[in-house]
Amino acid sequence: MSDQEASCSPLVLGVLASGRGSNLQAIIDEIEAGRLSAKIALVLSNKADSFALERAEQHGISNLFIDPKKYERREHYDEALLEALQRHRVQVVILAGYMRLLTGNLVKPFHNRMVNIHPSLLPAFPGLHAQRQAVAYGVKFSGCTVHFVDEEMDNGPIIAQTTVPVLDGDTEDDLAGRILVEEHRLLPSVIQRLAEGRLKIDGRRVLQQETSKSPMEIMR
Ligand code: GRF
Repeated sequence: MSDQEASCSPLVLGVLASGRGSNLQAIIDEIEAGRLSAKIALVLSNKADSFALERAEQHGISNLFIDPKKYERREHYDEALLEALQRHRVQVVILAGYMRLLTGNLVKPFHNRMVNIHPSLLPAFPGLHAQRQAVAYGVKFSGCTVHFVDEEMDNGPIIAQTTVPVLDGDTEDDLAGRILVEEHRLLPSVIQRLAEGRLKIDGRRVLQQETSKSPMEIMR
């Protein structure tokens, strides 16, 4: 694809999800409302009963469950994911509640072209149960982070964050619900900035640019 084509056509996304898929739904809704210049070419899950697959189906989006039990090594599983993503000509991979560690076999080919959403203000509270960790620690603010993915968990360059207050008496679920509302805004807005080519990666820092370039040029 030429840079000219890339800047005119919608960004082609692959979404990986393991659970209910509300972030996937937020992306679908923004695309259908014409506010996000992207197209979801494929939704992949490691869970047969992920509601994300059902959501994709309801919106006519190709979707696939790839069974981890059929692969002895994580690397081989990731190669199967990679093959499916490449077959669907995916340009950018979105991890939207994908609850499985990735290997270099998938991360490297999508270097600077894979983003994750995490329900805390990274680098605070990486890993599982981020909202539970935040409540237990007693922080007064938490939030969500969208970041590029590297081979370490919840570690890559941070693209954008939104803060939310942690209120006295909050349970883990209260906080998770408040953060989720913001996740649904943040993730599509970052994808739109990617599609417009407005992000520049400078080491660990991700800078917002006024002038847009072809997304593929920036993410090279
Ligand atoms: C979200 O809180 C996301 O930040 C985390 O997993 C959850 C997925 O929720 N990585 P959903 O499946 O998108 O509803």
